[in-house]
Amino acid sequence: MDSGQILLSYIKVWVILLLLSATFQNSKLAAKNTAQDKKRKLAAENSGFISIDCGAEEDYLDGDTGITYKTDKDFISTGKNKVVAPEHNLTTLYYGNMANSLRTFPEGKRNCYTLKPRQGKNQNYYVRAFFYYGNYDSKNQTQIKFDLYIGVNHWTTVVDMQWTYYEIIHYSVTDTIYVCLVNTGFGVPFINGLDLRFMNDSPYRSMNGSLIPKVLADLGGLDPTLGAMRYKDDVYDRIWRLDVNLNDSVSNSTEANIDIQGSDDPCRLPVEVLRTAVQPRNGHNSLSYSYTLRHRENFTPEFLVFFHFAEIEQIAPGERREFTITLNGLNYGPFTLEYLKPLTIGPYKLQVPEDQVRFSIDATLRSDLPPILNAFEIFKLWPLPDSPTNQTDVDAIMAIKEAYKIDRVDWQGDPCLPLTTWTGLLCNDDNPPRIISLNLSSSQLSGNIAVSLLNLTAIKSLDLSNNELTGTVLEAFAQLPHLTILDLSGNKLTGAIPHSLKEKSNSRQLQLSLDGNLDLCKMDTCEKKKRSFPVLVIAFVISVSVLLLLNIITIFWRLKIGRLNVSLSSLVGLSRKELSLKSKNQPFTYTELVSITNNFQTIIGEGGFGKVYLGNLKDGRQVAVKLLSQSSRQGYKEFLAEKIAQIC
Ligand SMILES: *[C@@H]1O[C@H](CO)[C@@H](O)[C@H](O)[C@H]1NC(C)=O
Ligand SMILES: *[C@@H]1O[C@H](CO)[C@@H](O)[C@H](O)[C@H]1NC(C)=O
Ligand SMILES: *[C@@H]1O[C@H](CO)[C@@H](O)[C@H](O)[C@H]1NC(C)=O
Ligand SMILES: *[C@@H]1O[C@H](CO)[C@@H](O)[C@H](O)[C@H]1NC(C)=O
Ligand SMILES: *[C@@H]1O[C@H](CO)[C@@H](O)[C@H](O)[C@H]1NC(C)=O
Ligand SMILES: *[C@@H]1O[C@H](CO)[C@@H](O)[C@H](O)[C@H]1NC(C)=O
Ligand SMILES: *[C@@H]1O[C@H](CO)[C@@H](O)[C@H](O)[C@H]1NC(C)=O
Ligand SMILES: *[C@@H]1O[C@H](CO)[C@@H](O)[C@H](O)[C@H]1NC(C)=O
Repeated sequence: MDSGQILLSYIKVWVILLLLSATFQNSKLAAKNTAQDKKRKLAAENSGFISIDCGAEEDYLDGDTGITYKTDKDFISTGKNKVVAPEHNLTTLYYGNMANSLRTFPEGKRNCYTLKPRQGKNQNYYVRAFFYYGNYDSKNQTQIKFDLYIGVNHWTTVVDMQWTYYEIIHYSVTDTIYVCLVNTGFGVPFINGLDLRFMNDSPYRSMNGSLIPKVLADLGGLDPTLGAMRYKDDVYDRIWRLDVNLNDSVSNSTEANIDIQGSDDPCRLPVEVLRTAVQPRNGHNSLSYSYTLRHRENFTPEFLVFFHFAEIEQIAPGERREFTITLNGLNYGPFTLEYLKPLTIGPYKLQVPEDQVRFSIDATLRSDLPPILNAFEIFKLWPLPDSPTNQTDVDAIMAIKEAYKIDRVDWQGDPCLPLTTWTGLLCNDDNPPRIISLNLSSSQLSGNIAVSLLNLTAIKSLDLSNNELTGTVLEAFAQLPHLTILDLSGNKLTGAIPHSLKEKSNSRQLQLSLDGNLDLCKMDTCEKKKRSFPVLVIAFVISVSVLLLLNIITIFWRLKIGRLNVSLSSLVGLSRKELSLKSKNQPFTYTELVSITNNFQTIIGEGGFGKVYLGNLKDGRQVAVKLLSQSSRQGYKEFLAEKIAQIC
């Protein structure tokens, strides 16, 4: 032995695996991140946005709006991509890119987009669907009509074949939001674009149903032919109408900044919307407007109305602008405004039996100036009478669909609603509905019986006959309280028939069919045979393991003195809890360490105890090898303390 080796033999070496590879990957990522900063910023701004250009061939960043549009790919699997006829190509600013491709649904009664916003359920979302026929099918149709559903409830009927969009502020009780196009027999449904925007804790929230925007008016604003007011002016990407005219009004505007930050206006109106306003023509003291519903409903509709103001004129000292609001005959006010400070009045909720919303804004008698109005919004309250299918059932049927890779055109959207159920399913009329029957007979199912079936706790009839199912019959079927028909015939099931199922079948509570499973053991004896075998095997395995372990410990104890005390802690994780769960010490010989560290080639750190080397295990993992220097007694304590801390 040369002196170096002798010296080293006095050194206690501990190897601690620190998941170095993860650290390296992180630093690589960091570099990439700097490069992608710009992209990330944009993504952050758009978080809460889902923007789909239906029928598009690839994702793109829209130059006009700064919104990244995605193809349908991740949102729907049915339908066909089309483009509008060249002579109908739209070039409208802010929409042009999205308008000219679309997706049509010649097959199936109901086709659904699946939207999964990051913010999940019990949140408010602004959802908008765009339609433009553009003679894409060269049939020059004008009479197409189809229904649009949000979740399981009717949203609207699409009738306008010109460029148009429908909006809804939807309070979702589910994590997944379906937007379904329903063929009602008046032509093939299609869609050009679909947007979803998370609306946070907004005042646009009805406790009972959703809100359908009827008028979002930016008064005194831009020339409507110049484009639209939407994202990025509007954080929610609402589209403000610029073409709403009040009787006998004139526009005015300011270049000054409206303090929307300081005002914590929950409606989050764009500055550009508030900078412009209308006031009555010279000599008049009143602004008025009326909105008439186009389609009568079979219930008395309710509306929400918001008025938005900001004083854009610097009023001479001693003068005042004061006004009242009259809405469908009810008076509110008087109100005054502060210079450049936003003020939202409302929302006022009103029943509208005559299908009309009318308001006027009038100067009070002591007002020196006429009234103004910067913007207003009218929403129709939209009841959502139907609840989606019980979430437990939905999760179960989705898991079953996934487990057996069931690929049926109509297995999309909610399983029970609207209008039809998925083929093979029956649901009850409860609100929320439950799945009461599942028939997957002759559906080429293979593999084991999916345990998710047990989560369909309302099921009465389950038919899995004539498939290729293998494995055993689940005993837990006996625990489904309502199950009266269980057909598993014509499969390749093995093992014994569970006792409890047999009992239920014998007592006529369950109609059980197991015919045609050739390897299924129908005798009472097979259960017992099966059980005794594994018990023996386990007992044998355990005793052998204990013997082996004792041997290893003895050998180890003898070898310990005079050998390097080398230990590897395989720390697979960074939290203390995980460490204590997963750490295990493994001794290494000095020669092995030489090989692991490639003869202590790369120093990656130095602590109070000595040097730290980079090592590579045979399985490719990177490790840090800490060598404790004999000269450092202080370091030894530190080293041990650190090690204990890391392992405990
Ligand atoms: C139609 O407009 C899209 C962009 O919206 C453009 O890419 C396409 O080339 C246009 N097609 C024709 C025939 O003008
Ligand atoms: C399409 O229909 C419109 C009226 O509905 C008609 O004026 C036009 O000529 C038709 N175009 C073609 C190509 O048939
Ligand atoms: C919710 O809307 C439904 C249908 O319009 C109505 O029958 C019910 O009374 C409403 N409930 C509340 C609390 O407003
Ligand atoms: C608006 O003006 C038109 C004609 O100028 C009139 O018929 C209508 O009643 C007015 N509307 C309101 C709400 O005053
Ligand atoms: C428009 O506003 C300016 C001040 O911002 C004011 O001087 C002017 O009188 C207003 N125009 C009308 C028509 O009232
Ligand atoms: C759905 O069904 C499960 C299981 O029966 C039940 O616990 C749960 O309350 C139901 N959920 C709703 C919303 O009714
Ligand atoms: C399941 O469907 C098949 C045919 O699709 C039918 O023969 C069978 O009777 C159905 N099972 C039940 C339990 O209704
Ligand atoms: C069954 O439902 C429970 C509770 O809803 C859930 O935790 C479990 O993951 C489900 N099991 C399967 C197999 O879907």
